[in-house]
Amino acid sequence: MKKRKVLAAVLVFGISIQVLASCTAEEQTGIARAQVGVACYNQSDIFISELLDCFEEKLNQLEKGSFEATVTVRDGAGSQRIQNDQVKELVDAGCNVLCVNLVDRADPSEIIDIARENDIPIIFFNREPVAEDMMQWDKLYYVGADAKQSGVMQGELAADAIETEPQIDRNKDGKIQYVVLEGEPGHQDAIIRTENAVDTLRGKGVELEKLSYGIANWNQAQAENRMLQMIGQHQNQIELVLANNDAMALGAIDAYKKLNRTESALPVFFGIDGTKEGLEAIKEKKMAGTVYNDKEGQAEAMAKLTEALVSGSGLSDIEFENEKYIYLPYSKVTFENVEDYIEKE
Ligand code: GAL
Ligand code: CA
Repeated sequence: MKKRKVLAAVLVFGISIQVLASCTAEEQTGIARAQVGVACYNQSDIFISELLDCFEEKLNQLEKGSFEATVTVRDGAGSQRIQNDQVKELVDAGCNVLCVNLVDRADPSEIIDIARENDIPIIFFNREPVAEDMMQWDKLYYVGADAKQSGVMQGELAADAIETEPQIDRNKDGKIQYVVLEGEPGHQDAIIRTENAVDTLRGKGVELEKLSYGIANWNQAQAENRMLQMIGQHQNQIELVLANNDAMALGAIDAYKKLNRTESALPVFFGIDGTKEGLEAIKEKKMAGTVYNDKEGQAEAMAKLTEALVSGSGLSDIEFENEKYIYLPYSKVTFENVEDYIEKE
């Protein structure tokens, strides 16, 4: 019995010496080690997976002797309950920064509680928690973009195209018959993008007639199905497709392709994001324009914030809005400037 206790004491002592030794080694070398736990709402989302690739790249670029980062990504696969469990696991595995892309942006409390209990800061990204939740703790940050700006820019792109290409009004009734493909209901980027795109078009004097809309959850295949239904209802009356993102604009293009519609029966398509495939479609003149969702800028802001939070320095150099928000601006992409964006990739 006694022997066992001594052995235990020796073991504990040994371990604490080791822990102590590794701590002092870190202090001496001055290396800040980030163990980043990333929880995303759905890894099959094209924009999110491109953003995460960028994030790992930007972290790598910051690794210069005094900073090291390892990243573990978990896919919530559309379930907030699964994501809550994944965050617990990431915390248990020793992560010292969490990057969270909420499944349900209105339901972050459990995740915030886990983080606060363990004093691990959270960088929320892309799916913005409501303001009250962001006030729950001072180590909560958000990196994203202003949904309204993307809607306004999409409206401007469409208005410019309609002005310069009168043939878009195919039936020459002086109105543009349009449909909308919407992202997830309740997502800050869905309703706001639609509203602002339509308001901007109207504000520029374009007469609009809404024929229909379909919810396609940011997803190309769902958008193709919705579009096939809408074409079934409205045949070749549709002159303009406003999609809340590129994946859905591409799905709409797929639908017309499936039906073998010829060029003269096609509407104009606008997306948002500037994904790889989206940019390619603009280059090939299949899509008329998109609004670039600056994933490089967002990823860089997340990486810099991660470094500052772990190293304990540099936080004051970061420019926040309301102390915890970072919004990267959108920009417009058309055939004229698409090459600049393709090079960026
Ligand atoms: C939006 C993006 C969509 C989708 C969504 C997921 O900002 O435009 O393509 O990725 O975020 O939350
Ligand atoms: Ca018309």
